[in-house]
Amino acid sequence: MYNIRKIDDDLTFVGVNDRRLTLFENVHPLPEGVSYNSYLLKDEKTVLFDTVDWSCGRQFFENVEAALDGRDLDFVVVHHAEPDHAATLDEILMRYPNARVLCSAKAKTFLEQFGHHIADRVDTVKNGDTVSFGKHELTFIGAPMVHWPEVLVSFDTTTGTLFSADAFGSFKTLDGVLFEDEINGAEEIAWLNEARRYYTNIVGKYGKNVQMLLKKASGLDIKMICPLHGVIWRQDIDRFIEKYDLWSRYEPEHLGVVIACGSMYGNTEQAADILANALVQRGVKRVRFFDVSKTHPSYVIASIFRYSHLVVASPTYNLGIYPTVHNLIDDMKNLHIQNRTISIIENGSWAPKSGSLIAKELEGLDNITYLGDPITVKSSVNDETRESLIALAQAIADDIYAKKNK
Ligand code: FEO
Repeated sequence: MYNIRKIDDDLTFVGVNDRRLTLFENVHPLPEGVSYNSYLLKDEKTVLFDTVDWSCGRQFFENVEAALDGRDLDFVVVHHAEPDHAATLDEILMRYPNARVLCSAKAKTFLEQFGHHIADRVDTVKNGDTVSFGKHELTFIGAPMVHWPEVLVSFDTTTGTLFSADAFGSFKTLDGVLFEDEINGAEEIAWLNEARRYYTNIVGKYGKNVQMLLKKASGLDIKMICPLHGVIWRQDIDRFIEKYDLWSRYEPEHLGVVIACGSMYGNTEQAADILANALVQRGVKRVRFFDVSKTHPSYVIASIFRYSHLVVASPTYNLGIYPTVHNLIDDMKNLHIQNRTISIIENGSWAPKSGSLIAKELEGLDNITYLGDPITVKSSVNDETRESLIALAQAIADDIYAKKNK
């Protein structure tokens, strides 16, 4: 049975919730699911904005049919060719044989590569092109690498609606909510956390491209943002754009410390725990501690984007970095983490090396400041290393206060 909701007189939400997918892109956990958003515009022409993942096809086709309410489908706009949004395109084209696809030339190539049969049914559009569907006029805006190279977003100049593709999206199913102003206070934090985890891990690598898109968007009178995942933004748009601006410039939201710790037998963990204790006792309010063997890196990455300081604690393992810490370091490099103050704790019983190896791995990242010398734990914390950890906590606390008072 269909499950749709009117957004305004002409636009209807026809997207779906996916609560069964365990891992987004088969990588990132989805404890609260994800939505694949799709929108149907009914003007003189009918226009479907993107489709959804195959897993939710049945619900989606019923939604589209119900929203069309007997009318034929004239156009499908494909903003983004990734299968979580375009997998059901072929089926839509079979069900509505008069529909034509509007997408970028690169999206056309990608859709064909993914096996869609669209050759004689596509009209390619590019940055700056305008298409009228009746009273609604749509302007296409190039958004390459937000999150793939073929991406276009589009702006309905009649209503001030930005169809933003993956930008401004979030993990988490909609659960009856459609607009951000329908989320109650306590749930707001959960939404922002999942929006941050979505942005930082999925689009985080492409900060420069997001900045270019924000620049283009700043010239538009945006009344509503309709992304391809998560809630529609219509009330507190500026607040979310501010977050996107910080994230895409790799600037922290808060002064605070992420402790990313790997530990084989609890000794490196104890060193990191002593540091955390000393930080809080020195008045540092925001300390987030992660055992990186237990917490998926997507959560740690989101926290690293959020806070100003990072402490990495790692045993030496096969004369290298502990595997789960190494995995996190790889993610940090891939996502181009910048502008952070980092401290390192290493452990090794006979040849401690993880600290110098972590520093070497992070060499290519921009504007990384190291605070304190790496602390070496030999098997377990002794009086001397305990003192070094307290001194490091003091140095981090001093640095945070100095930045706060700037
Ligand atoms: Fe939601 Fe890049 O796909």
